[in-house]
Amino acid sequence: MRVLSGIQPTGRFHWGNYFGAIRQYIALQDNEQAFYFIADLHALTTIRDPGLLRELSIDAAIDLVALGLDPHKATLFLQSDVPEVTELTWLLMTVTPMGLLEKCHAYKDKVAKGLPADAGLFTYPVLMAADILAYDSDIVPVGSDQVQHIEVTRDVAQKFNHQYGDVFVLPAPRVLDESAKVPGTDGEKMSKSYGNTIELFEPEKKLRKKIMSIKTDSTPVEAPKDPDACHLFTLYKLFATAEQQAALAARYRAGGMGYGEAKQALFEIAMDHFAAARAKREQLVADPGEVARILSDGAARARAKAVEVLDRARQACGLRDRKG
Ligand code: ADP
Ligand code: TRP
Repeated sequence: MRVLSGIQPTGRFHWGNYFGAIRQYIALQDNEQAFYFIADLHALTTIRDPGLLRELSIDAAIDLVALGLDPHKATLFLQSDVPEVTELTWLLMTVTPMGLLEKCHAYKDKVAKGLPADAGLFTYPVLMAADILAYDSDIVPVGSDQVQHIEVTRDVAQKFNHQYGDVFVLPAPRVLDESAKVPGTDGEKMSKSYGNTIELFEPEKKLRKKIMSIKTDSTPVEAPKDPDACHLFTLYKLFATAEQQAALAARYRAGGMGYGEAKQALFEIAMDHFAAARAKREQLVADPGEVARILSDGAARARAKAVEVLDRARQACGLRDRKG
């Protein structure tokens, strides 16, 4: 089984991205053949500062490796390093009904808000379909908001197959366990669009400040508190063992604990949890050649597969087979 997913480098990764997605991608590398890429072409629909795009793309790759993505197990690459995907996008576009794309939410939401939308945003799901189909992917782990795009991918692949014969493998989505919607510093869903994120590799001082700024209610120190109604505790649970959770829950219920104490506990456990990843990240930052090598090895492996699939598609629809 080939597992494939892409993640957009539109900001530094936060706790929500890690617990909601990245951690699960990394877990899959042990039992499946995994392809993961940084979706820099998709990010162009929102980021128009070239320096920033470059920096965020490399940072995303560094973060993934620091967090445990093992380049010997999984194939990690930049989307734009596989130009076959953009060519495949065109072939797929010729069988994609306009109506299918008009229903897609990224475009529809923007238009509904009266914002100008470009053709890149409109055809975004076809690029995503090419990303998936180019590698004969079987399983695509994604957040629930992306399931619609996998359905479009299946539709487009079926249209192409119906027209030209069995060219593409039909992928299936695997919806990530989002039961733990990670709350942000204000208690709402953590998201960079809400400005309530805690970034994974925040410098220690800034991390402490962020955690201390988490909003809590005004229950006095002496009063007992309900851990299950407190998003500070929800965050603590992400890192803690059952025993640690029970211990802090007991402190909440007993009274006499201020939220400052719970924040300190969260700070310590989070620093501890990501200590190895932080060290690995520093090592990677100090050796930019290493990440460049990982990405170019990944691109070579990904391209070998994409060339094979693109050739299949070119031949099927009457274009010249580039293998000669
Ligand atoms: P943001 O909302 O900050 O823009 P993205 O949409 O780029 O984040 O998120 C990429 C993936 O990370 C999503 O598909 C989702 O699976 C996961 N994710 C993001 N925020 C959270 C959260 N607060 N809780 C759980 N998962 C999240
Ligand atoms: N559109 C996805 C997102 O915003 C990122 C993405 C691009 C992707 N291509 C993909 C995800 C292919 C899975 C498969 O999260």
